[in-house]
Amino acid sequence: MHCTRKITDDLTWIGASDRKLSLFEAVYPVPKGISYNSYLLNDEKTVLFDTVDKAVCDQFIDNLRFALGGRKLDYVVVHHMEPDHSATLGVVLAMFPEAAVVTSAKANTMIAQFMYPLPPERVRIVKEGDTLETGKHTFSFIAAPMVHWPEVIMSYDSTDRILFTADAFGTFGAPNGAVFADEVDFMGDHLDEARRYYCNIVGKYGAQVQAVLKKAAALDIAMICPLHGFVWRSGIDSIIAKYDLWSRYETEEKGVLIAYTSVYGNTQSAAELAAAKLREKGITVTMYDASVTHTSYIVAEAFRFSHVIFATTTYNNGIFIKMEELLHDLAAHNFSRKTVGIIENGSWAPAAGKLIRAMLGQCKDITVLDEQVTIKSAMKPEDEAVLDAMTGKIAEEM
Ligand code: FEO
Repeated sequence: MHCTRKITDDLTWIGASDRKLSLFEAVYPVPKGISYNSYLLNDEKTVLFDTVDKAVCDQFIDNLRFALGGRKLDYVVVHHMEPDHSATLGVVLAMFPEAAVVTSAKANTMIAQFMYPLPPERVRIVKEGDTLETGKHTFSFIAAPMVHWPEVIMSYDSTDRILFTADAFGTFGAPNGAVFADEVDFMGDHLDEARRYYCNIVGKYGAQVQAVLKKAAALDIAMICPLHGFVWRSGIDSIIAKYDLWSRYETEEKGVLIAYTSVYGNTQSAAELAAAKLREKGITVTMYDASVTHTSYIVAEAFRFSHVIFATTTYNNGIFIKMEELLHDLAAHNFSRKTVGIIENGSWAPAAGKLIRAMLGQCKDITVLDEQVTIKSAMKPEDEAVLDAMTGKIAEEM
């Protein structure tokens, strides 16, 4: 049975959601599901904008048939060849042998890699500035390399002023019947998952996101249609402002993220004391046990807050494995422009602090506070003075 939503008179959302998937991209937990958006334009020509993940193929095909209403398919625009949007492309091309693929040269290479080479008469390669006329509508194409793969293009419908943004402006979480962001309390209920999606999927590529935002600023945009999550038709400036902040690695909120690992609870006690001292100074604090909480949530909070305290044990003469994983993940996502405090523990040879400093040395614009707390097994009264100095320094900066 079809399940579609009208976006405009000519454009129909024909995507689907997956709530069975536990790890998106085999990495990211999606406890509230994930949506794969696809859109069909019914103009003089019919145009399909991207396909979906193979997990939701049956629903998507029902939707596509319904939205076409018996018409043939003329074009498939492939904005992004990652299989969550292209795994069903082969099914569509087999169903509609006259449909031509409109895509970038790099994506066409990937089509051959993931599937098989398309015959030249079935492909129309486009680059930035090229246009596609479909009757009433004219689409122009915009290169968006590394948002999130190198082959990505966006397209802009100058007739209805719609920007199709591929992964950009997506979010984790199934929309549960909604299609527009203004049908839900996006900033209250979905911003955290949108941030987690952005930071973990394209967070590394802030410069490339900035480049695309500059191109988008030159367009008159009435609607944003991403490949995951919600369509934006109002409040567009608010989500663009978030993307601008995140891609510049600017602080979104003054406050402290405390990420800790603790084998027997003593490092956690030190982290809790740090949190209490910061709260007494009126500072916002959020805390995560990095052994328990998936790294993707902590990476997103690290993008959000101005300060981070890492509290961890020394393990095998290194950094405790779960903290080391978190630090690797942060560095891989361009963790930058933060002030960092360190609490290290080590019962006989504390080394985690020095090693964390070395790892953060690979990151841009990270200030590590000199006031480093070193615990031997459990916190002692003399250690508290250093913790006071560290939290005092953070309070001064707020
Ligand atoms: Fe949603 Fe990069 O694919």
